[in-house]
Amino acid sequence: MQDNPQGKTVKASRITIAQLMQPTHANHLGNVHGGEIMKLVDEAGALACMRHAQKRVVTVAVDQMVFRNPIRLGDLVILTGEVSYVGRTSMEAEVHVNAENPITGERVHTNTAYLVYVAMDDSGHPTPVPPLIFETESERQRAKDAEERQERRLAKSKLRSTQE
Ligand SMILES: CC(C)(COP(=O)(O)OP(=O)(O)OC[C@H]1O[C@@H](n2cnc3c(N)ncnc32)[C@H](O)[C@@H]1OP(=O)(O)O)[C@@H](O)C(=O)NCCC(=O)NCCS
Repeated sequence: MQDNPQGKTVKASRITIAQLMQPTHANHLGNVHGGEIMKLVDEAGALACMRHAQKRVVTVAVDQMVFRNPIRLGDLVILTGEVSYVGRTSMEAEVHVNAENPITGERVHTNTAYLVYVAMDDSGHPTPVPPLIFETESERQRAKDAEERQERRLAKSKLRSTQE
């Protein structure tokens, strides 16, 4: 039995987080360490899914991340996340990462990431999440694409476990 059979909109899950890149975020070249961005991406995705499920969530899968542009110290990193697809207990979040120079206002899109989270009940077991309500055709199409991504992840994971 689902807690919220009426479902919730994609928009209701949408979150934005922003963080100023400081010297503690640097790699040895003086740009921002990719791992810092990966952590923020995971936080943004988790927050969107927590908003949707109104439950604690754990990260179960992170798709390949490709960084197209370096992020520099002093940049403001802005991450927007929202739920793109829900299964029974799992949710995919789509997270967009932009880096803004707060002095010039120039903003660069650095990457888009897809991550899967599972909602957990108070005993630490996967628990059902509300359905996702689509308000636009692009949200509906994206969910179809996300469903295919999820099928591929599960097929890969099954293949890996048969090889172990
Ligand atoms: C997430 C976890 C509870 C799932 O356990 P499980 O035994 O696979 O549970 P289930 O088979 O019921 O799967 C739960 C959901 O996860 C999805 N899932 C499982 N493996 C997956 C994978 N490799 N990729 C994407 N989704 C996956 C399932 O499809 C299912 O989704 P659905 O209910 O929407 O159909 C378990 O793998 C876990 O605890 N992982 C560690 C999570 C964690 O600690 N993350 C932080 C890392 S530091």
